[in-house]
Amino acid sequence: MTGRTDILFTPIDIGALRLRNRFVMAPMTRNFSPGGIPAEGVAGYYRRRAEADVGLIVTEGIGVDHPAALGRESVGGGASPVLHGEAALAQWRDVVAGVHAAGGLIVPQLWHQGVIRAPGTGYHPDAPSSRPSGTWGPTDRAMVPPDYLELVRENTAPLSDSEIGDIIAAFARSAANAMAVGFDGVALHGAHGYLIDSFFWQQTNIREDRWGGDIAARARFAAAVVREIRAATAPDFPIIFRFSQWKLQDYDARNAETPAELEAMLAPIVDAGVDVFDASTRIFTAPAFEGSDLSLAGWAKKLTGKPTIAVGGVGLSKDLQSSFVQPTVMMDNLSLVAERMAQGEFDLIGVGRALLMDAQWVQRMRAGAQVNPFRLEAYASLD
Ligand SMILES: Cc1cc2nc3c(=O)[nH]c(=O)nc-3n(C[C@H](O)[C@H](O)[C@H](O)COP(=O)(O)O)c2cc1C
Repeated sequence: MTGRTDILFTPIDIGALRLRNRFVMAPMTRNFSPGGIPAEGVAGYYRRRAEADVGLIVTEGIGVDHPAALGRESVGGGASPVLHGEAALAQWRDVVAGVHAAGGLIVPQLWHQGVIRAPGTGYHPDAPSSRPSGTWGPTDRAMVPPDYLELVRENTAPLSDSEIGDIIAAFARSAANAMAVGFDGVALHGAHGYLIDSFFWQQTNIREDRWGGDIAARARFAAAVVREIRAATAPDFPIIFRFSQWKLQDYDARNAETPAELEAMLAPIVDAGVDVFDASTRIFTAPAFEGSDLSLAGWAKKLTGKPTIAVGGVGLSKDLQSSFVQPTVMMDNLSLVAERMAQGEFDLIGVGRALLMDAQWVQRMRAGAQVNPFRLEAYASLD
């Protein structure tokens, strides 16, 4: 490891939190929580990453306290955790305690699958799925298997205003539970076509009430969630917001066609009290808009002044989607990460698959040691 990557190993303060370095474990669904309750191995899985110097862990997506939050996953099983009920909360207390004992920090990713949830599936199969305008969106570019598409393609009833209020309250309850069990903040899943993102996207939100309209109006739902979480937690309780352009419905989808639209989308969320933006991209160097090399995380920082997390392809030769179908190997691209960070493009770097392959990835990269190879089989284990 050369001196040029030193910035990655320097601490940073995010509000009241001091991160020991710039590495953030990206949220990764693991399906090891039957009935919504994290299995025994989950605490060790997170603790090992904290012991090996990950700066901040974002958990797998966790269903908020609403019956339609989780369904059968769009990829894989259907054993995602929840963050309510004594049994689940007791397990999360153990997870948090293990991470803290190792000197780490951990936040839960609060998730509502919304539009993506297949009706009739999940822990509450009778609950209708939550869709802003009843539609799943266009079906000709979907990145889910054909049998899954069959389950979701029919239109359902749009959410009523009071149902929207119930979901916002569910996010706030789950965030309050997160604080109660000792988590260091919360991360919101506002990306990839799930509920919050489906309010942003014109294809899934054609509402004519206050929750629909131009991009600023379509950001009102996200802002309301952030505002209620702030009110239900504490003024200095960190709130991280993940957003993306791409969606499971369409890899090439865009919520914002221009930087001005991105600014209009993020400004209400800033006003509502968010602390950090996490811009989910496939490759962290990908330019977000024509005419500039700046990534989506770079634009979010430039437009809002908030600290940002970049993500996508760190430590690996291929992006997430390609790695399922093309040979993929581990590689060291940290000097490129450090270069962009030193230029002020973003503050933190998200690492997904590399940390799933190797709990000690951060330490090993720093030491210039060999890391575990990329193996798709690793997705089936909690090592
Ligand atoms: C197994 C797996 C599960 C994932 N689950 C989630 C999730 O629950 N929430 C989320 O926002 N992103 C999820 N992602 C996306 C990652 O957070 C990350 O953005 C993506 O893998 C790109 O980072 P990487 O190239 O470092 O892997 C998942 C990725 C993988 C590999």
